[in-house]
Amino acid sequence: MADATILDFEFEAHANPVSDTNRAEALANPGFGQILADHMVQIRYSEERGWHDARVRPYGPLSIDPACAVLHYAQEIFEGLKAYRLPDGGAALFRPEANAKRFNESAARMAMPEMPEALFLASLREIVRTERNWIPDIEGGSLYLRPFMFASQNYIGVRPASEFIYLVIASPAGSYFKGAESVTLWTSEHYTRAAPGGTGAAKCGGNYASSLVAQQEAIREGCHQVVFLDAVERRWVEELGGMNIMFVFEDGSIQTPPLGGTILPGITRDSLLTLARDAGMTVREERYGIDQWKADAQSGRLREAFACGTAAVVTSIGKVRGRDFEFTIGNQGPGLVAQKLKSDLVAIQRGRAPDPHGWVHRLF
Ligand code: PLP
Ligand code: COI
Repeated sequence: MADATILDFEFEAHANPVSDTNRAEALANPGFGQILADHMVQIRYSEERGWHDARVRPYGPLSIDPACAVLHYAQEIFEGLKAYRLPDGGAALFRPEANAKRFNESAARMAMPEMPEALFLASLREIVRTERNWIPDIEGGSLYLRPFMFASQNYIGVRPASEFIYLVIASPAGSYFKGAESVTLWTSEHYTRAAPGGTGAAKCGGNYASSLVAQQEAIREGCHQVVFLDAVERRWVEELGGMNIMFVFEDGSIQTPPLGGTILPGITRDSLLTLARDAGMTVREERYGIDQWKADAQSGRLREAFACGTAAVVTSIGKVRGRDFEFTIGNQGPGLVAQKLKSDLVAIQRGRAPDPHGWVHRLF
């Protein structure tokens, strides 16, 4: 394999980029995931050449052969992280090395090639430098980056591909749950997300494909997100469709489901646990059963529950529903501990507070 730790990126400018006026309008109220910046990064991989052909090119459609392996067997992984505007006008990423590591762990699980961390970081630097004008200047705004890799070999036999395409697209982002002070969850009884030995800890598209019917059910039931229980006992709370979950008790302690291969090891999760420990809080990574959750919410032993992830940041959970139950948490509004942890995290991410763990990765 060629040693391509750092490749030179070719640059091809977009012939018709979005106008300044239209971009300003889009950035004033970006929502999540609808608007795409003008350029994307593309890098190719083949078994013979390793990583090669790195470029920043105009955002636009790809031409894919109908026999392309990803269209059949879903050999695909992705990441999600945000570029934040710093107070001095620069920009930073938050713990991108952790995304690089998780990307490679996902790649290993999906029989895909690893990408050198330096190349992954260089790809992020290239896209953010190119699209620096796409970072919204609104409170809570960021440029969401979506690195992903898929099997691009044209072959319909079932085997790991030998050719891959890696892309990074960028999308200005505001809040994920627009206008929601807290969210309502739907407990999936029929569908599970991941089983022991499966791909739950990998950020592969297939996990999301299989979660969509449960998310559809949640929406039909008037809920924001689905919460999954474990696949073995159908009892232990695992995570939401696209976020981890945490619980806060009356003694001030925090609990979250342990990483055991069936949930995504969230970088927000890890960061919040660290900040909570820094603040002297008791933190447990332990299983929590749905029946206990109901009982603790009803007795008041449970004070708060919140979702956490790159897209959702920290979002309080006000209500939980299932086929034959419904319970509320605290006063159903944003919890005090959730708000404090969120503001501590966001202050570090945006360069407004000291960064004792070296999490902020300045790009320029
Ligand atoms: N769990 C799932 C299923 C997710 O999709 C995400 C989002 O990436 C997370 C948890 C949170 O991970 P992170 O905090 O790294 O964004
Ligand atoms: C993220 O937070 O980056 C995710 O991938 C979750 C998804 C719901 C957008």
